[in-house]
Amino acid sequence: MNIVCIGSGYVGSVTGAAFAVLGHHTTVLDIDHNKIDLMNAGKSPIYEPGLDHLIAKYMGRTLFATTDYQVIYQAEVVFIGVGTPSKADGTADLKFIRLAAESIGKHLNPNKFTVIINKSTVPVGTADLVASIIEEASGLQVNKHFAMASNPEFLREGYALEDVFFPDRIVIGTEHERSKKVMQALYFNLLNRVNYDEKSSDFKFAYNSHAALPTYYETDIKSAEMIKYASNAFLAVKVSYINEMARLCETLGANITEVANGMGMDSRIGSKFLQVSSGWSGSCFPKDTAELLATSQKYSCELTVVQAAVDSNQQMHDYVVDKIKRKLKTLTGKNIGILGLTFKPNTDDARKTQASVIIKELIDAGARIKAHDPHGMEMFQQLNAALDVQYVTSAIEVTNNVDAVVLLTHWDEYLLIDWSQVLPNMRSPYLLDTRNVLKQSHLQKLGFDYEGLGINSSKNKIEFEVKGA
Ligand code: UDX
Repeated sequence: MNIVCIGSGYVGSVTGAAFAVLGHHTTVLDIDHNKIDLMNAGKSPIYEPGLDHLIAKYMGRTLFATTDYQVIYQAEVVFIGVGTPSKADGTADLKFIRLAAESIGKHLNPNKFTVIINKSTVPVGTADLVASIIEEASGLQVNKHFAMASNPEFLREGYALEDVFFPDRIVIGTEHERSKKVMQALYFNLLNRVNYDEKSSDFKFAYNSHAALPTYYETDIKSAEMIKYASNAFLAVKVSYINEMARLCETLGANITEVANGMGMDSRIGSKFLQVSSGWSGSCFPKDTAELLATSQKYSCELTVVQAAVDSNQQMHDYVVDKIKRKLKTLTGKNIGILGLTFKPNTDDARKTQASVIIKELIDAGARIKAHDPHGMEMFQQLNAALDVQYVTSAIEVTNNVDAVVLLTHWDEYLLIDWSQVLPNMRSPYLLDTRNVLKQSHLQKLGFDYEGLGINSSKNKIEFEVKGA
């Protein structure tokens, strides 16, 4: 099929490359010349393991990249994968969606039945908005000359190729019979694993031999749009919940890793998304929970559980800062080294990360910050120009002459640090591991004052009230 993916960001570039691998003639379209030039030079516009290789291999064969909207004229399917950042009031800013819709409208072929698919996370009702903008710009009619569909993307950054080639489910919201058929044809190769060669280097970062075939789930457009928000908010609740349990474990002397293991054995709960952290963050959970809360307030249908998850997440960021303050007594004049600025490993995405909140709170309390990230430093620095941070090019440099090292993101390279080399260069031996990934007993033997989250025995004696005594 002839496919156009509008947007060359974390969704559009990955979707485009994946459909090209599956044999469709796919063009990635973006108004940003730099990103398109990069793609045409066989390079990925984002850091995502395995993506560079696919773009280099398929560019000019089944994958194409352009800034020219003329390509819409030939397309049978157009994905909209542009950004939907938050506005100040929390609602999603649809300006890029509107722009894309208008440009699609101006270039739509009246003699072709084109399916326009929202892949970006967009508020319920956006498909109707896009349809009306296209109608106005083209003079054509929805469900006659073109149809709308919602096909939310569930990929995780850092594991995008695995998630795209081996998804749990494909959600398709469309009410038009012809567009249902187009969507089924579009996903045929993926559903039947056609062109999936386990030994091919294309699947080096993706192949999952245990993955069950995905469920293909057809529903109405509004429900499809809602499934994405409801899923992300649920995951945010799950992480906030385990982080709250971690705080209580720490107070009572229980161990959150043991608790999460024991909880995860219940198939109703599941073991995923029970990993403790300094709080969830990134480009999706903060904006999607904000949009859901703003919309629910607008329609007087308040979501108290989602609100609690957001509040609890802020408490988790604060909890990490308080822990450091408790240990170092005062932060004034203290040097703190931060390992990890992205919201999780294997991505360069530094949008809305917990590091920005935690670093700001530490600076406000008087600390001086040194920081490192293997791939996210440039974007973090750009987005947080107001933060006075010394950026260094190696993890070891972060640890030189500091009063505390705080590991925020569990990049593999931090797990391989030779900590015996680190200790002599630190001013004091405090190491806070907010992901509980480092080897506690080894570090303690080396002489570190090691703390994780939710795993340190409390010195407080728990007092029970003995009734009738
Ligand atoms: C998320 C959804 O998982 C994905 O389906 C959707 O398409 C986009 O949003 P992503 O933002 O890439 O994906 O990251 P994800 O791996 O889900 O992690 C989200 C946040 O939760 C990160 O800050 C991560 O570090 C944190 N997290 C996740 C935890 O703290 N503990 C966990 O157990 C899991």
